[in-house]
Amino acid sequence: MTRLAARRSLLAAVLGVSWQQRLLGHHVVPAAWRRQCFSAGSKAEDSAQVTPLLKHLMFKIKSTGPITVAEYMREVLTNPVKGYYMHHDMLGERGDFVTSPEISQIFGELIGIWYVSEWMATGKPKTLQLVELGPGRGTLTDDILRVFNQLGSLLNKCDISVHLVEVSPKLSEIQALTLTGGKIESELDVTSPVYMKGISKAGIPIFWYQELQDVPQGTSFYLAHEFFDALPIHKFQRTEQGWREVLIDIDPKAPDQLRFVLAPSATPATEYFIQDKEERDHVEVCPDAGILIQRLACRIQEDGGAALIADYGHNGNKTDTFRSFRSHQLHDALIAPGTADLTADVDFSYLRTMTQGRVATLGPLKQQEFLKNMGIDVRLQVLLQNSSDTAMHKHLLQGYDMLMNPKKMGDRFHFFALLPHQRLAHSDQKVNLQHSKSLSAPVAGFGELIWK
Ligand SMILES: C[S@@+](CC[C@H](N)C(=O)[O-])C[C@H]1O[C@@H](n2cnc3c(N)ncnc32)[C@H](O)[C@@H]1O
Repeated sequence: MTRLAARRSLLAAVLGVSWQQRLLGHHVVPAAWRRQCFSAGSKAEDSAQVTPLLKHLMFKIKSTGPITVAEYMREVLTNPVKGYYMHHDMLGERGDFVTSPEISQIFGELIGIWYVSEWMATGKPKTLQLVELGPGRGTLTDDILRVFNQLGSLLNKCDISVHLVEVSPKLSEIQALTLTGGKIESELDVTSPVYMKGISKAGIPIFWYQELQDVPQGTSFYLAHEFFDALPIHKFQRTEQGWREVLIDIDPKAPDQLRFVLAPSATPATEYFIQDKEERDHVEVCPDAGILIQRLACRIQEDGGAALIADYGHNGNKTDTFRSFRSHQLHDALIAPGTADLTADVDFSYLRTMTQGRVATLGPLKQQEFLKNMGIDVRLQVLLQNSSDTAMHKHLLQGYDMLMNPKKMGDRFHFFALLPHQRLAHSDQKVNLQHSKSLSAPVAGFGELIWK
């Protein structure tokens, strides 16, 4: 059997050859993923929108002075009353952006295989906590659980549970519908950090939390897809007088509008966040991401497991990436706050630094390379061969193109993993791998999928 044929039969055996239900209800959104740059929204048209959040922010600025971009982002995205993520579904064709798991089920299936592969490589621990940060509609976890179900014979002795970290009441409601069919327990112990719980369609317990710290310790496999980019960033500008933080103030010429200004002098943030050797003129720093990655690294160091982070980002070389999206269009980040998404590219080099060597890191590796290594071509062929429906073929091919095309999501999104040091101790895979092609790698996705 050729290597390709062997992998084809493996993936067919693993995932089955039949169509999955979720595929039937979906069609691909043409060229409208979240981070694509489109034309900017019309400022004149939008400026009429004095939103409740804008009023709240103006009140705050009038009381205490200009605010940091991080404070602005936190308020706009997760303010409990009017935050963008809190009370509506922004994903999909009718929303503001679309993400990979929503584009094609193959994406989630391959991620599911990654977790099983890592679970096996770490000696098949008796318990497996799947922990997803910011699960959106719950689609990715649903696709992963379908893979776990299909691999029931392998996982049947393993005690699996799902732990979702989600701040949005609206999205957690949608996640519960996707994953449990709506069967949830809402009357919970008030002393417990679990704010909702339910049972998946295949009988796996699912728990919801506000924060990672609330998730119980134990062998855990973490997932963060398009999560880190939503965390608040600080922005800094190099000036002739030295580094200055970028702040947000009320525009004196248009009292219903906000504008960016520079802090008049250096602040503790400039001292703390800008490194002496910094060569760029503009820098974005996300301390929340740093704290989160430290927590993940400590947990993996203590309890084992792994973390897979997928997002668009860079290796410490980009400058101004802060932007806003509404209805699949680039939008002015300071107009009508609370009605549009805010985001900034993830700095993977910063994440790597913040692990403080507690774990090994792999990547960032381009999405197209990761998915290719995971066998996306084989999976696509299997699905194409098993359907004669031309609409399905079109759907699959469009989804594949969106995920893999270097000009679409293929080159913009990256995969980054945290693993216990001992996981790589006996391999020739270099820690902090950035050019995976030249190395043979035992970790699926960062090298070819080898399933023993
Ligand atoms: C861009 S969406 C990505 C959704 C999903 N992972 C996907 O790829 O389709 C960001 C997700 O993170 C959640 N989120 C944003 N900030 C959060 C925070 N500070 N804590 C927990 N969840 C957060 C949002 O509510 C949403 O579910």
